[in-house]
Amino acid sequence: STIEQGNFEWSAPSNIALVKYWGKKDNQIPANPSVSFTLNNCKTITKLGFSKKNKSPEVSGPLSETNDAFSFDLLFEGKPKEDFKPKIQKFLERVFVYLPFLKDYHFTIDTQNTFPHSSGIASSASGMAALAMNFMSLEKTLNPEMTDDYFFQKASFLARLGSGSACRSVKGSVVVWGNQANIKGSSDLFGVEFPNTIHENFNNYQDTILLVDKGEKQVSSTVGHDLMHNHPYAERRFAQAHENLDKLISIFESGDLDEFIKVVESEALTLHAMMMTSMPYFILMKPNTLQIINAIWKFRTETKIPVCFTLDAGANVHVLYPANVSEKILQFIQHELVVFCQNGQYLCDEIGAGSSLI
Ligand code: PMV
Repeated sequence: STIEQGNFEWSAPSNIALVKYWGKKDNQIPANPSVSFTLNNCKTITKLGFSKKNKSPEVSGPLSETNDAFSFDLLFEGKPKEDFKPKIQKFLERVFVYLPFLKDYHFTIDTQNTFPHSSGIASSASGMAALAMNFMSLEKTLNPEMTDDYFFQKASFLARLGSGSACRSVKGSVVVWGNQANIKGSSDLFGVEFPNTIHENFNNYQDTILLVDKGEKQVSSTVGHDLMHNHPYAERRFAQAHENLDKLISIFESGDLDEFIKVVESEALTLHAMMMTSMPYFILMKPNTLQIINAIWKFRTETKIPVCFTLDAGANVHVLYPANVSEKILQFIQHELVVFCQNGQYLCDEIGAGSSLI
C-alpha cells in the first residue's frame, strides 16, 4: 500500500518519574527500571505533513542523493527552527531501520508546546513521543492490518530511541519502563501501563510544577547518564531503583501515601545525589529548590497533609498531592512557595491518559 501525501496530528504529554531513570547502556537501554505519572496539561502538539518524493528516473534515480537522505522542514510555533534539526536528523537515523519508508517522503514537522518555551520543563519526552506517534500513523496507513497493541508498543519503542523517558509518554496514567521481574510485560525496550492494582488514593493525583529556574541546563541529561558509567555508587543505585519500584507496587495497591512520599522524595534526592557524586560533579538544584523542599517538609509536619516533592534533572520542583487536598495545597503554594518561583510562575498539572490523535 502507498500513499502520496497527507498529514497527521498528535499530542503527547510530558511525564514525571517517581522512580528515576538515570544511567543507560548502548541503544537507549536503561540501567534500571523507572515508573512515572503521565501528565495531562504539559503537552507537545505535532503535525506531520508528508508527501512522496518524486522518484521518476529522469528526475532522480533511486540512488540519487535526494532519495538517499532524509528530507524534512521543521517549524516550531509556526516558524522555521534550524537549531532543532540536528536532533530530529539523529532521531530519523536511529529509527530508519524500523521505519524504512522514511526516505520515501518529504516531511514537514510543525510542533508546539502547551507550556512556556524554555520554562525548564523538558520537552524532549513529549516532543519525541508526539513525533513517534505521527510516524506510526503513517506506518499504519501503509500497513492497515496492524493491531493497536503493536501500534502503541512500537510508538513507545521509537520514542525511546529519541529520548529515553519519552517512551513513558505514549500511554497513561502510570507507566513502567525497564525490565522488572514481578511486573508483567515490563521491558527495557518500551514503556507499558502499570499492570497491577492502583488504589483510588492515586486517582487524579496532582502535580503542580514550580518554575524555579528557566535557564538552560548546565549539564544535559545525555552527559548525566554517561557519568553513571564508572560512577562509584552506580551498582547500588541501580539495585535501589528495583527495590523502590517493588515498594511502589505494594504502595499503589494499599494506597499508603506516607510510604509513597518516602519512596518518591528519596528517589528525587538520590537522583541529585548521583549528580553531586559523579566525576565531574555538578549541582542542578538552586537555592530556591531547597527553600521549597524545606517549606514542604515544614507544612507537611504541621498539617499532616500528604504532599511531597519530586525533581527532574533541573531546579524546578514538582509538588505531588491527592486531588482532595488541592484547595489547601494551592493556598499553601500561593502564600509560601510562589516567592521562590521565577516571576512567580507555576503550572498546574495532574495525571493524564497519554498521547492522542487530533
Ligand atoms: O529521557 P532523558 O534522557 O532526558 O532522561 C531523563 C531523566 C530524568 O528525567 C532525570 C528521570 C526520568 O526518569 O525521567
